[in-house]
Amino acid sequence: MTQAITVPRLHADTAWRDAARGLLIAGVPPEQVTWGDDTTPKGLFDDDRPVPPSGQITVPRSFISLANTVVWHSDPERFARLYALLWRLQKEPWLMTDRGDAAVAKLRTMEKNVRRCQHKMKAFVRFREIGKPTDNRRSFAAWFEPTHHTVEPTATFFQKRFGDMDWRIITPDVSVFCEAGDLRFELDHPTPDLPDDAAEDLWITYFENIFNPARLKVQAMQSEMPKKYWKNMPEAASIPKLIAEAPARARAMAEAAPTLAPAFAANAQAQQAQNISVWDGPADALPAAIKGCTRCPLHVSATQAVPGEGPTDAALMIVGEQPGDQEDLKGRPFVGPAGQVFDQAAQHVGLDRRSAYITNAVKHFKFKPKGRRRIHQRPNVSEIDHCKWWLDAELAQIKPKLVIAMGATAALALTGRSDGIGQRRGRIERGIDGTLVLITYHPSFVLRTPDQGAQDAAMAHLQADLAMAVAYTRDAVAARSNVGEVSQ
Ligand code: URA
Repeated sequence: MTQAITVPRLHADTAWRDAARGLLIAGVPPEQVTWGDDTTPKGLFDDDRPVPPSGQITVPRSFISLANTVVWHSDPERFARLYALLWRLQKEPWLMTDRGDAAVAKLRTMEKNVRRCQHKMKAFVRFREIGKPTDNRRSFAAWFEPTHHTVEPTATFFQKRFGDMDWRIITPDVSVFCEAGDLRFELDHPTPDLPDDAAEDLWITYFENIFNPARLKVQAMQSEMPKKYWKNMPEAASIPKLIAEAPARARAMAEAAPTLAPAFAANAQAQQAQNISVWDGPADALPAAIKGCTRCPLHVSATQAVPGEGPTDAALMIVGEQPGDQEDLKGRPFVGPAGQVFDQAAQHVGLDRRSAYITNAVKHFKFKPKGRRRIHQRPNVSEIDHCKWWLDAELAQIKPKLVIAMGATAALALTGRSDGIGQRRGRIERGIDGTLVLITYHPSFVLRTPDQGAQDAAMAHLQADLAMAVAYTRDAVAARSNVGEVSQ
């Protein structure tokens, strides 16, 4: 006799968790359980009595986070796969860190799919106004067709963003309604007949104007905005025309560009600064947006994107190259061997890392597998360029007084210059966006320097540069508060 577990489509996360816990405590092995949702037909030999009452089990935190995302995947096998892994974890508690395990790898991929789908939902839902001008609150509706069951886990994002209006997102499966700030979910709501929206013309015009033909990469654009979403996005109607016209417009732009004066670098930097478009979501949504990044292929093999961490009003921002093996697994910057060197140097000069905002130029770990090891690979110019979007977003939100660029990748991302760090370290340069950038060695350079004398010298340079940054930001903050005192 198999035990048949029905996980309802609404609140599937808690329902699956309770059922799995009951089964585990009762010692029911995965092969004796069939899982389905409330659309799955029952089998002839299924026993669907409720699972026994809950009790205590030990589960790694990383599994809980994985399960909380994978339950929203559309694969009918998702519940069974999760339970099979949970079962194995009781005897093999290290399993979550085994990157070669096929079951873990499959679930990690499913987790990524769900996260990506949530990201697409946040980006591509288009609301149309449905209320009357006389209503107390404005109301909006959107029709959306997500690949996975992402309405429930993504609803709070919209709730926070659109707190001052009523809205609904209708999908073929689960729909969500937000009325007076309260969320309500409904199954199988009929397809709405939505009105045309007067704001659409404005949105299309805006989209056509922000489109930069010189930066067009059709494949990248389609992977960011897959075609299946186009039909519900008003601006998508303009895409084929914009793509067709792009080469001629880019040529015209190039012909119209001014001849570069001898002060090449300054002009190029000024031009680039003007072209920057910055992610402008709410500050608290930035880490999640970074975690959902699929802007370049590095997201495919990395465990997760690692956003920066630290106070959002930090005077000092510190930028490294990219997460290493440990950072990739833990989701935090500078917590591996290079992080230890950095902590040592910081401690030596009285810099408390919690007072600074620490991040990387590239947010995903780039590596080459070698047996069970993952060997660090330097990010290339295109990867740095794609990730600049996030670094710019962090710069725009933190507005630091000074940025420390540790190593060549950070220096390139921040200043646009790739000349040697040896000659530039210890100096403050002007970054592409005008921010002051202090160049120094990367802590890994200190680690990799084989000769003890040279290693000590590199460490001393790193410490001296950090000390300079501490002094500079302390003065800048003091000057700011003096100005405040005078003007009050
Ligand atoms: N190296 C980096 O550049 N950044 C990290 O977060 C860790 C190692």
